[in-house]
Amino acid sequence: MGAESKGGSSDKGSRRDQPTVRGEVFRYTPEKWDAVKDDITDLARQAQSSGVFRTDDIHEWVDKSFTNPHTIDNTKVLLREGNKVIGFALTQHSYGWSKEANDTVPSDTKAEITATIIDKDHRGNGYVGALMEPLDEDLRNKGFKSVVIRALSHQGYDRAIERHYGEKIVYSSMVTPDFRHIQYNL
Ligand SMILES: CC(C)(COP(=O)(O)OP(=O)(O)OC[C@H]1O[C@@H](n2cnc3c(N)ncnc32)[C@H](O)[C@@H]1OP(=O)(O)O)[C@@H](O)C(=O)NCCC(=O)NCCS
Repeated sequence: MGAESKGGSSDKGSRRDQPTVRGEVFRYTPEKWDAVKDDITDLARQAQSSGVFRTDDIHEWVDKSFTNPHTIDNTKVLLREGNKVIGFALTQHSYGWSKEANDTVPSDTKAEITATIIDKDHRGNGYVGALMEPLDEDLRNKGFKSVVIRALSHQGYDRAIERHYGEKIVYSSMVTPDFRHIQYNL
């Protein structure tokens, strides 16, 4: 079940009906991918300008993240408003990051969130929670015990994560001038 937005419409009277915003785990099929790839490419383009990742070829980054055999089973959550994708979060499993962070948990029980992106016109509504709840649940179901978020520190996103996860956090450190790694227990 996806989470509902703070602004979702359940009352019948005064408020304008708004489409429900929901987060859902994306499980790749060619047909499902065809339906979302344009929205996801647009969102990736927005994030490229925020410095979330470095690439000159946005199509290559999107393909590598969503359709590559090495990443296809990694947990991914899409945020939808109606049929439109307005955000997504990506994870990597078991490889790719642990040289920089501590190793208190074996890497096969530790996943990494490599990107969290919400459409610029939809930010500030608490939708990060709608992405993270199904993401954490899917990772728990796969047997993961903890998660590392690679969070951009500008605009205080890293601090917002620290506030939210509080005592579940077991590690937090700036690993580059722009990025903080925060590890929390699931
Ligand atoms: C960073 C970004 C995803 C934040 O989106 P947003 O719509 O502003 O986020 P929200 O409105 O949900 O606000 C963040 C809140 O999420 C909360 N939060 C963090 N993890 C949460 C979780 N698992 N569940 C619920 N809430 C959570 C925080 O408490 C924070 O609230 P606070 O600031 O009031 O303490 C968005 O600005 C964006 O897409 N930026 C460009 C890409 C980027 O920089 N991504 C981050 C690096 S990968």
